[in-house]
Amino acid sequence: MLFQRIKPLDKILETAEKKALKRQLGAFQLTMLGIGAIIGTGIFVLTAEAGQKAGPAMMVAFVIAAVVCALAALAYSELASMIPVSGSAYTYTYGVMGEALAWTVGWALVLEYAVAAGAVSVGWSGYMNGLLASAGMEIPLALRTGPMDGGAFNILAFCIALLVTVLLVMGTSKSAKVNAILVLVKVAALTAFIIIAVPAAQDENFKPFFPTGWGSPLGGVGVLGAAASIFFAYVGFDAVSTAAEETENPNRNIPIGLIGSLLVCTIFYMLVGYGAVGAIGSQPMMGADGMAIHPGTPELAAACMGSEALVCSKEPLAHVLKMLGFAGWGNAIGLAAALALPSVVLMMLYGQTRIFFTMSRDGLLPEVLSRVHPKYHTPHVVTMITGVFVALFAAMFPVGILADISNSGTLFAFMAVSAGVLILRKRDPHRHRPFRTPLAWVVCPLAIAGCLLLFLNLSVYTLGMFFGWAALGFIVYALYGYRNSELGRGLKAAKNGPKIDPEPPFHEGPQA
Ligand code: ALA
Repeated sequence: MLFQRIKPLDKILETAEKKALKRQLGAFQLTMLGIGAIIGTGIFVLTAEAGQKAGPAMMVAFVIAAVVCALAALAYSELASMIPVSGSAYTYTYGVMGEALAWTVGWALVLEYAVAAGAVSVGWSGYMNGLLASAGMEIPLALRTGPMDGGAFNILAFCIALLVTVLLVMGTSKSAKVNAILVLVKVAALTAFIIIAVPAAQDENFKPFFPTGWGSPLGGVGVLGAAASIFFAYVGFDAVSTAAEETENPNRNIPIGLIGSLLVCTIFYMLVGYGAVGAIGSQPMMGADGMAIHPGTPELAAACMGSEALVCSKEPLAHVLKMLGFAGWGNAIGLAAALALPSVVLMMLYGQTRIFFTMSRDGLLPEVLSRVHPKYHTPHVVTMITGVFVALFAAMFPVGILADISNSGTLFAFMAVSAGVLILRKRDPHRHRPFRTPLAWVVCPLAIAGCLLLFLNLSVYTLGMFFGWAALGFIVYALYGYRNSELGRGLKAAKNGPKIDPEPPFHEGPQA
């Protein structure tokens, strides 16, 4: 019964056809869109975490994560272009593998989007705290970080998440012009960093290159552990796939946009990683057992007390420049991060509310979540509930832990989507595919294997959270979603097939 609950693709597509968008995006705009969504807390903040896990070999981790992302991106785009409606991987899975798996993917996407919004908020707070300290207005430690990081309540992370929530309720949305400006700000900041840090690199800072080895499954450290964390730095490229509907010649431009933005980011990340390691070194803090201490633990917070090591910094790129004697440039980078990161929080929260909204419209979550505000035309109830939870995670957890948990959900969703591409190729080979994954029978299995490799190299703590969350999801589904599903009720009543509402009248905000 569960696996019979597959939402017919034609029904899903009817929704999309009703609001077909003009095809106007070219390869360059798509690449900008991708870079805007990708560059964020990952490179600005998690460089320290990657250093703690892998030492100088974090540069290898950057490449491994980029390859896995590129493979997953190629698979993702086929479904995104075939089924260009809201709800991303959740909707694709509903149409391909049925309700039970769709629920699981939707539930995992909460980790991807909501937890990521929390992680980026914490990342932002690190830079903001650095700027305030430089201006002589340091916030007390208890309010600078959460309890696992030596503080009590991260007040700035809490506030930015709430502020973004208010903006979303009022209908602020992505604007191409603002995105282009923020891309320039981020790229300029990383370029300035590279220009200053790379020439300061010294050979001895790269030795030993592999202080923690490759790592082992569930270990959460080593090069593969670092790759599993730094994967976060590339998340966001799905913004390109989801714009498939608005893209001219998607078969050519989507892969250029995806691979182009991933390539540009990888080159920047490699150079930034090289500059950071080379300039001040990135040897991990070792525990009494001679092993690298796990990031995001009170033990690391204690070992880092008073340390100037890269792996201890909450604003690592600014910190490197300050250590090199370029305090002004360090602050400029801090300012760039402080300006640009909130837009990444906004994109993640936006994605989350739209997924909850779609699940609620499908009857898998309570109807109240798909209520639309009479004045702002936004799904205000779900946005406010999500925003408050995100603000609380952000206040309580370290950035690395949130990023790892978010990655677990993203990797799971990518595996489901890659499998979905192959299933649909078999089941419905003649359906129109605006974009076809090249060499799908090679690329999709490799994407699944790569995601699984990274998934298994997250820490045991992270995977425990993932499976705990999944178990909670099954309970909610059994008690609520299974009984209230629109599709399930439609099948039972054996009426004219499932009821699918038209897209909501969302206010998309000013488009520049
Ligand atoms: N890739 C995005 C970031 O690093 C999520 O912030």
